[in-house]
Amino acid sequence: MNTYVRSPLVLTKGKGSRVWDVEGHEYLDLFPGWGVSGLGYNHPWVMRAIRGQASRIIHVSNNYYHPLQWRAAKKLVDASFDGKVFFTNSGAEAVETAIKLTRRWGKGRYEIIVMERSFHGRTTGALSATGQTKYQEGFEPLLPGFIRVPWHDLEAVKAALTPKTCAILIEPIQGEGGVRVASAEFLQGLRALCDERQLLLIADEIQTGMGRTGKMFAYQHAEIEPDVMLLAKTLGGGFPIGAVIAKRAIADVLTPGTHATTYGGSPLGCACILAVFEVLEKEQVLKRVQQFHTLIMKRFSKLQQRLSIIREVRGKGLMIGIELTIDGRPIVEACRAKRLLINCTQENILRLLPAMTITKVQLERALFIFEQALVSAAKSAHQPAVSR
Ligand SMILES: Cc1ncc(COP(=O)(O)O)c(C=O)c1O
Repeated sequence: MNTYVRSPLVLTKGKGSRVWDVEGHEYLDLFPGWGVSGLGYNHPWVMRAIRGQASRIIHVSNNYYHPLQWRAAKKLVDASFDGKVFFTNSGAEAVETAIKLTRRWGKGRYEIIVMERSFHGRTTGALSATGQTKYQEGFEPLLPGFIRVPWHDLEAVKAALTPKTCAILIEPIQGEGGVRVASAEFLQGLRALCDERQLLLIADEIQTGMGRTGKMFAYQHAEIEPDVMLLAKTLGGGFPIGAVIAKRAIADVLTPGTHATTYGGSPLGCACILAVFEVLEKEQVLKRVQQFHTLIMKRFSKLQQRLSIIREVRGKGLMIGIELTIDGRPIVEACRAKRLLINCTQENILRLLPAMTITKVQLERALFIFEQALVSAAKSAHQPAVSR
């Protein structure tokens, strides 16, 4: 179906931060698969896990046990907070699971406070939770019970509370909404409010999780714990798998027969999760993410002084947004012409989610191409580069 805005590019092969098109041209990718290939395309350890597991057993129905599901769940809980795990096949399915979990836990309370410009996916429940009308048009009536409040406004959250409020759903850093970082104070404020009013704090870490922001999960920057966390994208190292982690007492409201998914948590998917954890641990990925963050921010803040088209550079770890005063989409195309892939969201925010395994040489080359594209965009926007 004609649901995607496509770039004229046919990709056939990938390795690390590089992809090749059907004609054999090589591209550097600073936005691999919308964050799915967070460890790069075809990481050898993920490949090894897939090959090994595929030769043993690909799928086991959830009426039986298999050891990898238990091991993957244990890894997730050990890395986050004491809870239980439900495996899904995508991010949106994790959001749907969280909505059902919240409603059942709420015992009649069902309202979930969501943020303006949030993005939680395209299935009906996740779409209803998403704080952007443009994605919802034509799909009404939406699922009721989502109360939208301005981003980063604790008073607005408090004002939106009703006796039916049951949870607050937030991306610690809004991705699609423009790489907007929630401050530690704001997240701590939400946590305190949830404790005081007996609400669930649900962290959508589908884009920010698994090391992307320099910590395993972005909520950890604020030294708080959510009650429920949602993961997908990098979780499977390219293989489609998602997860919902919920504190034990909350998770236990879902009893046998209340929720299920046929494919969720397959041995193949769980083998991929275990391989992703292995890479994150053994290749010291979090350290690299922090180092590369510093390198990128240094270069962009220098560039920002020269180019008035750059309004702001923000983000954490390897999740970076460059907000422009002009349309960013032609810059994406200019970069593609130079064999560099990046993304633009909200029309004027260039978004980078490089593979956390990118090499320094690759990163510097990519940044060079990117900077050149920004400089020429500044020139043609009649806002010439000015040295200060
Ligand atoms: C924060 C967030 N939540 C949910 C989703 C939906 O995930 P999926 O596309 O796997 O359904 C996305 C996808 O971009 C996302 O970034």
